[in-house]
Amino acid sequence: MEQYDVVVVGAGAAGMMCAIEAGKRGRSVLIIDHAAAPGEKIRISGGGRCNFTNIHTSPRQFISQNPRFCISALSRYTQRDFIAWIDRSGIAYHEKTLGQLFCDGSAREIIDLLTTEMDRHHVDLSLNTVVTDVARSAGGFDLRLSHGAVRCAALVVASGGKSIPKMGATGFGYELAARFGLNLVETRPALVPLTFQPDVLERLKPLAGVAVDAIVSHGKTRFEEAMLFTHRGLSGPAILQISSFWREGDEITVAMLPGLNLLDTLRAARASNGRQALQTVLAAHLPKRLAQLLVEEQAIQGNLADLSDKVLARVDAAVNAWRVRPNGSEGYRTAEVTLGGVDTRDLDSRTMEAKAVPGLYFIGEVVDVTGWLGGYNFQWAWSSGWSAGQVV
Ligand code: FDA
Repeated sequence: MEQYDVVVVGAGAAGMMCAIEAGKRGRSVLIIDHAAAPGEKIRISGGGRCNFTNIHTSPRQFISQNPRFCISALSRYTQRDFIAWIDRSGIAYHEKTLGQLFCDGSAREIIDLLTTEMDRHHVDLSLNTVVTDVARSAGGFDLRLSHGAVRCAALVVASGGKSIPKMGATGFGYELAARFGLNLVETRPALVPLTFQPDVLERLKPLAGVAVDAIVSHGKTRFEEAMLFTHRGLSGPAILQISSFWREGDEITVAMLPGLNLLDTLRAARASNGRQALQTVLAAHLPKRLAQLLVEEQAIQGNLADLSDKVLARVDAAVNAWRVRPNGSEGYRTAEVTLGGVDTRDLDSRTMEAKAVPGLYFIGEVVDVTGWLGGYNFQWAWSSGWSAGQVV
């Protein structure tokens, strides 16, 4: 049986980071993936340009049952550390918006950086490899693989979440955690488009493809970013963000002209030129199709001069306090991440080691730490992978 100090299952962002760090420390490392290539999620991320971190990363942008868990890893290996590495490597990047850093060229540059660094530190990479069994052995773990078997002192689970099963996401990490007695926080798709029931969809059909800059709220949580009407419901960054907080049966509230006091604007337009149609004034601030649908939905007839303050207030509410109840989400098929996962109370926040199973580590998305949209999830992968890599 082949023997390694460290076996990492999952050659994604977290797994490769951990393998590199362990390799740097002179550990013998094998990293396994059932996919044919490493870093497939990195490759498709950020529209092919990988939003690899966010300059504003802090524990505030992470969701977990234990919000303090991520503090240690995020402060030991920060976004500044990762950016410094990218700078040294010569990969060109830019800030798109809200602190989000993207490659100028291609996400492949990040994958190449990681694989080159793994090579440099003599990490063995085994692709198209399935782990069929894991058992505790005297000095660590015995793994049965689709071809062969391997023994290791430290086993790092970096198999990611359940999103995009078409790309090879599996429940491997969760099942292994449960088998070794760790608790799981219920998983659900997050950073995912929300859907409407058929009658709402039918009404909003003309809006498919229309985008607005909006504030989308769920309780006290709110995000101000773009929102997109789709053939299934709502998408765009503001909706993906709120989807991580939304639960079945809940309403969300949307302000589609958050920077404008619409009531005052409509009143002023009525005073200055009452013969204008409401739709004309709305279309000066909103996409035309949206302005038209708003007027039709409110069944408003006549010019502005014919409209009372009460009617204008109703229009204002329809635009800036639109309350809508999605009937679901597009699910793991399109979700960017998985909420929930391995319960952080069972892990050491400094090392990511299972408290009750020495030598077993969980890093990246498989852990119950989920970032907002905007590069935070990769930063969690780098930070948690780096932290485990210092000790395995
Ligand atoms: P990741 O999923 O990257 O890697 C897990 C690896 O384990 C995979 O290679 C998989 O094949 C392997 N694996 C799974 N089960 C296995 C098994 N049983 N045996 C062997 N191998 C197994 N985040 C961000 O910060 N910025 C962004 O721009 C984007 N963009 C984005 C776009 C899209 C379309 C998606 C789906 C997701 C994003 N994300 C993102 C989220 C980000 O991709 C995600 O959080 C990280 O990839 C998580 O890194 P991990 O290494 O934990 O898992």
